[in-house]
Amino acid sequence: MNPKTVVITGCTRGLGRAMLPLFIKAGWHIAGCGRNAAQITELSRQFPAPHHFQTCDVSLESDIAAFCATILEKFGPPDLVLNNAAIINANAPLWETSAADFSRIIDINIKGPAAMMRHLLPAMLKRGSGVIVNFSSGWGRCTASDVAPYCATKYAIEGLSMATAQDTGGKVAVIPMNPGIIDTDMLRSTFGDGAGGFPDADDWARRAVPYFIKLGPKDNGRPLTVPGG
Ligand SMILES: NC(=O)c1ccc[n+]([C@@H]2O[C@H](COP(=O)([O-])OP(=O)(O)OC[C@H]3O[C@@H](n4cnc5c(N)ncnc54)[C@H](OP(=O)(O)O)[C@@H]3O)[C@@H](O)[C@H]2O)c1
Repeated sequence: MNPKTVVITGCTRGLGRAMLPLFIKAGWHIAGCGRNAAQITELSRQFPAPHHFQTCDVSLESDIAAFCATILEKFGPPDLVLNNAAIINANAPLWETSAADFSRIIDINIKGPAAMMRHLLPAMLKRGSGVIVNFSSGWGRCTASDVAPYCATKYAIEGLSMATAQDTGGKVAVIPMNPGIIDTDMLRSTFGDGAGGFPDADDWARRAVPYFIKLGPKDNGRPLTVPGG
């Protein structure tokens, strides 16, 4: 059987980075991206071809177009797409968040996954299989103070994923996924040292990767949560 391909946005740190060795151990080929060019060079050295790492800012249509064109050329339609890249706003009420910061989080957290789907779904639908996991959050299903912009983007991910799932009809499964609460740079930005009370990304990846590998058409449009999350 041909090796399967997983696309992971935001694989230079945090949850994305922690999943890489586990997918490779399971025999998958990886196409990953992030903004940090030095980290992308380092990943290319650590995990050489057939894996592929590319600098890509998911808020830029031109970067996504180039990344997805390379994916389709090198691997063909991917089997699994993990739209993981995202940012969180600095803790503050909405009225203390600048218009520029609000636009930035919308561009990365909503327009990024939407653009990845726009570029990859036609080829995946043509082949007639595959799974797209859009990273949501507990804060895509309930709210908290000081994170209104982030909550808005993750509620949007839930709606975007469920509506797109109706469009694909399950030919390609589209799933909003709450990963749980994990001690990463993002959580530290919100919880400070309190983040240390939560599992680390490596522990999370050991639960998440086998779970993601088993997702399929039956999961289309279902808001899911990583077990133990
Ligand atoms: N950690 C948690 O407890 C938690 C809880 C709920 C949901 N989540 C969700 O899980 C996902 C991963 O979170 P995390 O905790 O691993 O975050 P993180 O530690 O802050 O890592 C975020 C990753 O996304 C990349 N990224 C950010 N902006 C990007 C952009 N414009 N283009 C491309 N890559 C970009 C970053 O790389 P570069 O800096 O190199 O671009 C980094 O690799 C996110 O969708 C987050 O909302 C996390």
